[in-house]
Amino acid sequence: MTEKDFMPSRYPDAIEAGAFTWRSPSNIALVKYWGKRGEQLPANPSVSFTLDTCATTTTLRFARREGPASGFSFELLFEGRSREDFKPKINRFFERIEKYLPFLRDYHFTIETSNSFPHSSGIASSASGMSALALCLMSMERKMNPGITERDFYRKASFLARLGSGSACRSVEGGLVVWGSHPEIEGSTDLYGTRYPDEVHPVFSTYQDTVLLVDKGKKQVSSTAGHGLMHGHPFAERRFQQAGEHLSELKHILREGDVKGFIEIVESEALTLHAIMMTGRPYYLLMSPGTLQVIRKIWDFRKETGSNVCFTLDAGANVHVLYPEEEKDRILEFVNSELVAYCENEHYICDRIGAGARPL
Ligand code: DP6
Repeated sequence: MTEKDFMPSRYPDAIEAGAFTWRSPSNIALVKYWGKRGEQLPANPSVSFTLDTCATTTTLRFARREGPASGFSFELLFEGRSREDFKPKINRFFERIEKYLPFLRDYHFTIETSNSFPHSSGIASSASGMSALALCLMSMERKMNPGITERDFYRKASFLARLGSGSACRSVEGGLVVWGSHPEIEGSTDLYGTRYPDEVHPVFSTYQDTVLLVDKGKKQVSSTAGHGLMHGHPFAERRFQQAGEHLSELKHILREGDVKGFIEIVESEALTLHAIMMTGRPYYLLMSPGTLQVIRKIWDFRKETGSNVCFTLDAGANVHVLYPEEEKDRILEFVNSELVAYCENEHYICDRIGAGARPL
């Protein structure tokens, strides 16, 4: 498939006004997307767990505009309040996707959005937010073109979400989602996220993610700026290649239920992401002292108890604690007795692998 395949020809049905609501989850990357090229294309393939609890709910109301349309016309309400500061991002998104949804200028939109997690928690809402909005827009398109197949509906939703935020394309489907072409993963493409197609051992289908909010502050560096640092980064090419190698290794690990192998790849990916940020120009330290303390505690706990708990990180200080469901009780006990001290206001969120976005 190419970008051209997402350009509609003609819509059989016309619509005047209406509303659609979608709830889209966040996702946590196991192999990280860090570096992009062209229009939101990934420099390397990535794979993530779709989450369940951490999610954005978006309602898109639309009404046909009178007279000739110049720019896009929309209002944005975040948790009930009008947010002018969010509008430029949406405007850029509309500009990027207009060739794939040519009706955007013909309607006035009201976008009402809210997150299940606190806004200032350091949890990025771009993945869940952009995928929820893309799905609402796709519901609108489907109303004009009811013949679209389920497969094409979700593909295009992921394709559009990607143009809003790369990782958002992995928040449409549930389970394990791959984004970025990889020779050993059938159907994988740079254009949109696809459900991981190969066999997965049951241990990985109920994985838990307890998100420790170590630092709720705004990220030091936006992910867009962070991706930019990969241009001219001394280790970039080797890193992109390594991500592909890690995915190849994961194939076997996921099939066999090799939890130890999983830990090695996932933690190495997290530390590599941070190492890359430390070795760029400019350079960044995105962990805080609490992040390091938590990592040490997790390693000690694993050594002492033989647990299969591990961690991953986004481009910030919060820690995602990943573990098989069967260890839930003892890990939550460990979190409460040893890790909660490193969380701001003792705040953490219990999440798990989820089933993907759904209409409400
Ligand atoms: C570290 O998807 O937020 O979470 O495409 O610029 O919106 P943009 O970036 P974004 O980057 C996510 C980076 C990451 C790793 C990952 O999710 O794969």
